[in-house]
Amino acid sequence: MTEGTPQRHKVLAVVNRKGGVAKTTTAINLAHGLSRKLMRRLAPEDVERVSDPSSIFHYHDRIYYLLGHVLLIDFDPQGHCARGLGIDPGRADIGEVLLEQQHLTEAVISADRSADGYPRPNLWLLPSSDNLESAKDILRLQTMSLTTKRNYGLLRILSDRLGLAIERFTFIIMDCPPALDAFTQAVYQFADAAIVPVKPDYFSMAGTGQHITNIFEAQVRGIDINIHTIVPTFNVERQVLDKQMVDELRQKYGNIVSAPIPRSQQVAEAPSVQQTIFEFDPRYLNPATVAYQELVDRVYYG
Ligand SMILES: Nc1ncnc2c1ncn2[C@@H]1O[C@H](COP(=O)(O)OP(=O)(O)OP(=O)(O)O)[C@@H](O)[C@H]1O
Ligand SMILES: [Mg+2]
Repeated sequence: MTEGTPQRHKVLAVVNRKGGVAKTTTAINLAHGLSRKLMRRLAPEDVERVSDPSSIFHYHDRIYYLLGHVLLIDFDPQGHCARGLGIDPGRADIGEVLLEQQHLTEAVISADRSADGYPRPNLWLLPSSDNLESAKDILRLQTMSLTTKRNYGLLRILSDRLGLAIERFTFIIMDCPPALDAFTQAVYQFADAAIVPVKPDYFSMAGTGQHITNIFEAQVRGIDINIHTIVPTFNVERQVLDKQMVDELRQKYGNIVSAPIPRSQQVAEAPSVQQTIFEFDPRYLNPATVAYQELVDRVYYG
């Protein structure tokens, strides 16, 4: 029941100050993939050997044992995580948690959609909304007097309001906005390590003569925490430039570069029908599903 040892890193921030590089897509698929790894099929005769009945989950005629739970925290006021997972956030809101207007336990909601055929018994979401912008403004003012230590002040607030989650969840995946302000930096600091999706950027390459790795470096710069994995996204294998980019990334960063995630219509479509890639392509026919599973395994096993 305890095959493999999960993770050295527990709190992971999916970050890149550049927009549209697949941060949210990666955060959602990674969180769901990890929660699936923490579900084990159980034979009916083994049920009575489980001491904690709340870790048993029934789905149709199958029985699962839940080894742990995963929390996805949406730090982007666009609130795409709830939409992509098909979850109605109701009143739950991270902005209110940060301002102490809502307790963490009220704001963390289940992402389970068993009733629709998508069992996610151990995946949870702390959703976001426009409120997060005003909450950030208020927190900025509150920590203003700390001037030189503002990041530390914001970090203390995050640790204070969200610390309980670290005790309760096996993994916490944080989807960050495309920004590098004091608040986002505090979120980076709150994490144990960063997952950095990077996207080939032909536009910034055109005419500038910039070296490929410089373009990626610009995306990675400013993330002053341990980088767990760099994930090349939107990869088109037959494009020579894409291959060259991944090769250069590997030369520079070595084995923290994961297998590239192929550009795929299915990856783009899955959130529009409120499914993760593992639900949209359950038979792993798409190489992007396989690549996301590899990323999940990398994070799960450390
Ligand atoms: N592998 C992929 N193949 C094709 N489309 C993808 C892939 N990954 C993500 N997309 C699509 O690209 C768009 C941007 O992805 P996403 O929202 O995850 O990026 P982001 O970095 O979170 O953006 P933002 O900076 O605005 O938060 C979305 O429409 C998404 O569905
Ligand atoms: Mg996003």
